[in-house]
Amino acid sequence: MEEGHLPVLAEEVISMLTPAPGSLQIDATVGGGGHTERILEATTPDGRLLGLDADGAAITRVRLRLERFGDRVVLREANFRELGRVAPEEGFTRVDGVLFDLGLSSFQLADAERGFSFRSTGPLDMRFDTSRGVPASELLATLDAAELTALFRRFGEEPFAPRIARAIVAARREAPIETAQQLAELIEGVAPARPRGRRRIHPATRVFQALRIAVNEELDALQAGLAATVDLLQPGGRLVVLSYHSLEDRIVKRFIATERKGCTCPPELPVCVCGRNPRLRPIGKPITPTPAELAANPRSRSARLRAAERLAA
Ligand SMILES: C[S@@+](CC[C@H](N)C(=O)[O-])C[C@H]1O[C@@H](n2cnc3c(N)ncnc32)[C@H](O)[C@@H]1O
Repeated sequence: MEEGHLPVLAEEVISMLTPAPGSLQIDATVGGGGHTERILEATTPDGRLLGLDADGAAITRVRLRLERFGDRVVLREANFRELGRVAPEEGFTRVDGVLFDLGLSSFQLADAERGFSFRSTGPLDMRFDTSRGVPASELLATLDAAELTALFRRFGEEPFAPRIARAIVAARREAPIETAQQLAELIEGVAPARPRGRRRIHPATRVFQALRIAVNEELDALQAGLAATVDLLQPGGRLVVLSYHSLEDRIVKRFIATERKGCTCPPELPVCVCGRNPRLRPIGKPITPTPAELAANPRSRSARLRAAERLAA
């Protein structure tokens, strides 16, 4: 029985990544180590894996879980936006597979001190790496109503962004918003539980997503991590990404489409002058969890897997 965090689409990740004995693999988001462990098992006896996580607590926990793999696994507390620097430092210059399982783990969600869950009464922080940047509570305390509205729209696609932003500015005049629970209750009071045409989710879901993306600069990090990956993969190597909302998935989809096309010259040019060749080939269609997985692990709900193979260009 897997403890803490159930790896999402675990079988599908392995069948897309095709990790073979002797290969070099990167798990850019080790989290609880569920996928990492499966990749290491599939690459027995001599495959090697570099595992990254921006969250030092995740690295500490996973180090214990993966102890039995000895020096086949190297773990680094690092943001995957630094992959282009960190991987060569550890001797991973030409790799066979890179996995990104985006978002947060059940460990982080359950940790009241991190402020990721609606019910948490600890500080509203939301950073994966608490040594960098500013906590979400600081954004709520300092941005004006227009800036908050823009943030909730851009990173949360929140239909009630102006209303929620105004309520935050009014509430903080009385007392600072310091916990996730305070923020969730405030939103419950001003936004309807189910905007027309949308499925039932907690009314604070989109605002929480927006704050988390903002404090961790998640979309920029994803773009940088994907770009570094294409440079690191050797021909035939695989990129596999699990995303959990449309903003992430759009970035992954567009990235693969751009790398598939190669040339970026405007169509009116008669010949290519940019010299860019296609570097990725998408593999299959996006994969979503089966009803059986959804029943066993409701947190897999919004997962979408995309995979691509590195071309020889
Ligand atoms: C969904 S969990 C991964 C779960 C893991 N695959 C498993 O099976 O246990 C996502 C992890 O990615 C980490 N993370 C998110 N953004 C990151 C980034 N930019 N760089 C490094 N780690 C990141 C989070 O701290 C979290 O631990």
